[in-house]
Amino acid sequence: MRITIFGSGYVGLVTGACLADVGHDVLCVDVDADKIARLNEGEVPIYEPGLEALIRQNRAAGRLRFTTDAVEAVAFGLLQFIAVGTPSDEDGSADLRHVLKVAETIGRHMTQYRIIVDKSTVPVGTASKVERVIAAELDGRRLQLPFDVCSNPEFLKEGAAIEDFSRGSRIVVGTESERVRSAMRECYGPYNRNRDKLMFMGVRSAELTKYAANAMLATKISFINEIANLAERLGADIEEVRHGIGSDPRIGYHFIYPGCGYGGSCFPKDVKALAHTAEHVGHPAEMIAAVERVNARQKSRLFEMLCQAFHGQLTGRTIALWGLAFKPNTDDMREAPSRALMEALWEAGARVQAFDPEAADECRRLYGERDDLVLAGYRDEALEGADALVICTEWKAFRTVDFEALRATLREPVVVDGRNLFPPESVKAAGLAYYAIGRGDSV
Ligand code: UGA
Repeated sequence: MRITIFGSGYVGLVTGACLADVGHDVLCVDVDADKIARLNEGEVPIYEPGLEALIRQNRAAGRLRFTTDAVEAVAFGLLQFIAVGTPSDEDGSADLRHVLKVAETIGRHMTQYRIIVDKSTVPVGTASKVERVIAAELDGRRLQLPFDVCSNPEFLKEGAAIEDFSRGSRIVVGTESERVRSAMRECYGPYNRNRDKLMFMGVRSAELTKYAANAMLATKISFINEIANLAERLGADIEEVRHGIGSDPRIGYHFIYPGCGYGGSCFPKDVKALAHTAEHVGHPAEMIAAVERVNARQKSRLFEMLCQAFHGQLTGRTIALWGLAFKPNTDDMREAPSRALMEALWEAGARVQAFDPEAADECRRLYGERDDLVLAGYRDEALEGADALVICTEWKAFRTVDFEALRATLREPVVVDGRNLFPPESVKAAGLAYYAIGRGDSV
């Protein structure tokens, strides 16, 4: 099958590479000429385990190509995926500029039946907007060509995107058209062998499914963080409580890890967008707004702990920071808790010595050279001359620590752990004060 994918960002590249890998002919198109040139030289602009190899193999096999030529792209695929970014507008709503621009391009250049597949996370009602834009373009060209627009949201997690694409729990397609159903069956057939994962539904239901899934997951995180904050004040240990509730299959163990707040390109943006949509339709969603507020507060917890440890005197302190990415196995720092912490520390006159296995370049790109930021080349280099250690991301490399050695290196015996990586007794046995999330007796 010939497939065009607009947008060679995270979702577009993973989708393109995975569809090419099962034998489809895929053409990825992007307006960023530099990015396309790099991809054509085999350089993958993002870090995602397995993606580079997948792109290399499929380019070599001739099944995956990259271009900036929109005319060729529209002519190429029966399926035209839209996988461009939908950043948050100032008011929290999703900015559809790029999505509608692609719709315009398709309408301007199509010469035969096309199926437009909304892959980007877009507010309910976007498929209708895409349809109107294409229809207007065709009208302007005095053409009457048939086309369909469907919604096919993605449920990929960064760091596990290829696995999620191949072995995801469901493939949601919003459409009323039999022609689209059959084309999408063919497209996803190779990933749909053992059990039928395709779920056909109405377009608006598919669009809302994506937001509901992310909002539900974000709710679980804010909920456990709220309980963690209570546990701290009540002298309970959230890790014991987490086990206690997770054993009930109705609750489950997934996504109830307390921490320093959720980050990334999806949850913060999607929760805000859903809250905005709710306002817009005259039903302000109390829970969704609270999920967002709890998360914003949670992101300031680590700074509060440091203030507590140093009696509010952070000026001139050097803080070692392990983990910059919003979660392990990615170099993505969008909305990462580490950023809220670093910015608060700088504001308070402290210096940061950070180490992250993948995100150092991204951090340099975001903050440039500054006197109050040192990016260490390896984990323990970040500790040299530091007053305290803070952990923001649960990279595997941070899980094994010699606490006696850590105690000897740090100028003050302070460890702030935003991911509850260690048994409090082991840390405290070395004479370190251990500030963790929701572990009442650990401070
Ligand atoms: C999320 C969803 O998990 C995907 O299903 C979805 O497709 C994707 O957004 C998207 O909309 O594109 P992602 O943002 O890659 O995926 O990352 P997650 O693994 O879900 O983690 C999000 C944040 O929640 C991280 O900051 C993580 O540290 C935090 N988290 C996660 C917790 O604090 N506690 C948990 O128990 C789980």
